[in-house]
Amino acid sequence: MSELDSTQKAAQEQFGRQSQRYAKGHLLEDVQDVASAVALCSALPLVADVLDVATGAGFTGLYLASLGHRVILADLAQPMLDRAGEKALERGLHVELRQHAAEHLPYPDQSFDLVTCRVAAHHFSSPPRFVAEASRVLRPDGYFLLIDGSIPDDEEEVEQWLHHVEKWRDPSHARFLAPSVWNELCTAAGLRVACSELQPLRQPDLEWYFNTANTSPENRSLVLQSVETASAHVREVMQLDSGDGKIVWVWQRLTLIARKP
Ligand SMILES: C[S@@+](CC[C@H](N)C(=O)[O-])C[C@H]1O[C@@H](n2cnc3c(N)ncnc32)[C@H](O)[C@@H]1O
Repeated sequence: MSELDSTQKAAQEQFGRQSQRYAKGHLLEDVQDVASAVALCSALPLVADVLDVATGAGFTGLYLASLGHRVILADLAQPMLDRAGEKALERGLHVELRQHAAEHLPYPDQSFDLVTCRVAAHHFSSPPRFVAEASRVLRPDGYFLLIDGSIPDDEEEVEQWLHHVEKWRDPSHARFLAPSVWNELCTAAGLRVACSELQPLRQPDLEWYFNTANTSPENRSLVLQSVETASAHVREVMQLDSGDGKIVWVWQRLTLIARKP
């Protein structure tokens, strides 16, 4: 693996420690979002070559393998790849596991029909480099599927607020990008965006949010303070509700499909 920068190292350490939390019952185990998006990739070969970048415990890539595709699951953190390998074995699915960063894909040009990346890109040190690499390894007519936390376009105050909250929760967070930014990155990398859609996602309460990242007590307090002092606009956009002793909010998840011409 090429030398990692500080953002990549932070993600590798964080997810290396957290891999056991990606067990059965994890929110990401529900791959309905992936299924809906893949259904839109109507020209995908019956048996496609797929690269699932930042695969975590493999929920996305294993779903694609279960459809009969040839899948490589790739991640920076070896313990996550170990979890993914265990799940593949349990489900009798054959996949290849590779340890590398999203920003440097160790494959020849035009190796894949589909490159996927779900709920991970907000950790990347260089989204432009990642998208350029995804484009390079795609075959003509290949698909790039990105699913990630996002913020509506032109919501700078909300973006700043959420950036701090997420960084306190999980210091390996880098940045949430708005749909227009992802669209620009795709265009700059020579991809044609076919679909780019935000979907609201009501998160379980704040305890769940903290537990998935093992947030320190000090940082939990900082998040709670931020929630208490959030402006009316942030409260409205995030649909922040702190009644009943529970704090719930609505995040936006972006699904973007782009094609290599
Ligand atoms: C939330 S998990 C991914 C979930 C998974 N894609 C799914 O669909 O279930 C985030 C993963 O991103 C990986 N990651 C973070 N930054 C990365 C990078 N720069 N390159 C490769 N993997 C990275 C982490 O190691 C972690 O396993």
